[in-house]
Amino acid sequence: MKVIVCENYEEMSDKGAALIAAEVRQNPEAVLGLATGSSPIGMYSRLVAAYERGELDFSKVKTYNLDEYLPIDPANKNSYCAFMHEHLWDKVNLKPENCHIPNGNIALEDAEAQCAAYDDAIKAAGGIDLQLLGIGRNGHIGFNEPAESLSVGTHPVKLTESTLAANGPLFDDPSEMPRHAVTMGMGSIFSAKKILIIANGKAKHDAIKGLLNGGITTALPASILLLHPDVTLICDKEAYNG
Ligand code: GLP
Repeated sequence: MKVIVCENYEEMSDKGAALIAAEVRQNPEAVLGLATGSSPIGMYSRLVAAYERGELDFSKVKTYNLDEYLPIDPANKNSYCAFMHEHLWDKVNLKPENCHIPNGNIALEDAEAQCAAYDDAIKAAGGIDLQLLGIGRNGHIGFNEPAESLSVGTHPVKLTESTLAANGPLFDDPSEMPRHAVTMGMGSIFSAKKILIIANGKAKHDAIKGLLNGGITTALPASILLLHPDVTLICDKEAYNG
């Protein structure tokens, strides 16, 4: 794993955006795996700015997002679908039909069926060239929460108390936060040709420390990525040093 430690969030965002921009320039038909959360907002704004300056063309790029709450209406401002529209999809020349995210607008019992179709669609697109990941405070990736075993493909999950506590405050009424989500599995993520993980702030220190100094364990789902041949971690000093 290549590790790049930055001064702050701004530098992390600059470096992360530069990596994604380089991928898109080198392969205008790149398939990108995208993430939501506070970590990538700065990166997305830099990609939008590069597009506005005429330096990037997303017209042939395909995107597949990692995860979505379940159940949630895509029009709900807290949905990851709304997040992607706000921060990237509607601000660059991505074609709407090329932007994909698991559908959270279904009942938990119906989620399994769409999950296999999501993985099949990624495979049919040629697989993910570059997967962007944030990391949860407990080391989760997407919504692959610490557990005795981890799922391979896209699947529905019950969110942990740690994740409910971390993300609940983003909802006007935290009790409205869905208790489940749909997420790419570790296998779906691992199949990406390249992986970029970004992390900032002291709250991520334990997860980063565990990732860099611990072994591979399902108790820290991100640690599985230590086995992947092409992973870059870009984090700030606070996430790295605590
Ligand atoms: C969330 C999401 C992840 C995200 C992570 C970190 O719960 N499911 O996809 O990468 O946790 O989020 P943030 O960047 O807001 O810290």
